[in-house]
Amino acid sequence: MVKLRAWLRPIFRKINHLRCKTWDLVHGVDTSGEIPLVNLNFESTHKTPGLEYQSHHPAIIRRALTSLPVRHPDFTFIDIGCGKGRVLLMASELPFRRIIGLEFAPSLAEIARQNLGKYRFGRQGRAPIEVVTGDALDYKLPPEPEVLYFYSPFSPPLLDQIVNNIESSFQQSPRDLFILFSGVIGMRDRAFGSRPQYERLLREAHMDLYRHR
Ligand SMILES: C[S@@+](CC[C@H](N)C(=O)[O-])C[C@H]1O[C@@H](n2cnc3c(N)ncnc32)[C@H](O)[C@@H]1O
Repeated sequence: MVKLRAWLRPIFRKINHLRCKTWDLVHGVDTSGEIPLVNLNFESTHKTPGLEYQSHHPAIIRRALTSLPVRHPDFTFIDIGCGKGRVLLMASELPFRRIIGLEFAPSLAEIARQNLGKYRFGRQGRAPIEVVTGDALDYKLPPEPEVLYFYSPFSPPLLDQIVNNIESSFQQSPRDLFILFSGVIGMRDRAFGSRPQYERLLREAHMDLYRHR
């Protein structure tokens, strides 16, 4: 059984890639691929080997977004490490107050900006969207009700620092704060699951949803 799974994995990967490519073609955008950050031409001490750009299939992202128990016009949505912006595109279908993508690889941030202009689905939610080129560690969260989205963007020590920054921001400006976090279970627990101030509202195969108490 284990052997069969290992044998099937590359086939499922290929099928998933083709499905994502098809979604891109239909929507007129470029959000697919797995791109190791070491292949991208930019300098950062946080460009750790092993990190890469990739995104979930749109159905997984849509499911995560629709699980949010929020009144969208009251909330800012921020994808921390937005890559080519697939999550921003999907969030743009909802009526968030505003949407922000933060990305430290300039070439990916530029593709995300281009995608926002090309997205064929249209911007049903009409939230203003901004892609910021910058490092998550230096980013100051706006002190307003927020949904933060993470998909495995950081090495564990960096993730700890970012979670501490989020906590300082919250202590300075207490507010409604939701976190959608995707990654291996150990990483989810390390980041938010093991912290008592975060209530876990949902755990699914790909994603946890937390609310700051
Ligand atoms: C796995 S991808 C997820 C992309 C996007 N969130 C999505 O789900 O479609 C992680 C992204 O985080 C970015 N990233 C990694 N470290 C970062 C940092 N320190 N500051 C900002 N972005 C970072 C990477 O360049 C990459 O695009």
